[in-house]
Amino acid sequence: MKPITKKDPFKLVFVCLGNICRSPTAEGIFLHKVKEKGLDNYFYIDSAGTAAYHVGESANSKSQATANKRGIHLPSKARKFEYADLEEFDLILAMDSENYKNILDLDTKDKYGHKVKMMREFDPKADMKDVPDPYYGGIDGFENVFDVLERSTEDLLNEFIVYIED
Ligand code: 4NP
Repeated sequence: MKPITKKDPFKLVFVCLGNICRSPTAEGIFLHKVKEKGLDNYFYIDSAGTAAYHVGESANSKSQATANKRGIHLPSKARKFEYADLEEFDLILAMDSENYKNILDLDTKDKYGHKVKMMREFDPKADMKDVPDPYYGGIDGFENVFDVLERSTEDLLNEFIVYIED
């Protein structure tokens, strides 16, 4: 792992299906955590979706309401994950196994698999592999997604913070 510096920030992208519920929530929480610690210049943070259905849209209103209640702003506008992102980012975090597979399917030359991980590898209380898709359900599902991502992004940041050098 190379040192993380202001000149060479660590680039991570959170990826789900629509880029309106799970990955914008992970992005917003992680942005908040690094700002709180004064580390925003050391990370470049983005999110994307493997599908294009919602391109250009802000985060889902239930995701926003859940995040806002906990003091978190979700700034994302949905975009589709593309081949160039495999090269661009240091770490690509898939919310579920279908996203993971769709990301790896883009890697036709098998060059970037080492950068792709499942978000819940970082969840200390994971009882399943996926961050469940909350889109078709009620507010409880969005609250659960927020809790899972709050825990996972905390461990994620702690894992990479040790590589920061001034
Ligand atoms: P996300 O949730 O992948 O967490 O953004 C979804 C958003 C939209 C759809 C599915 C999941 N959809 O089918 O439109």
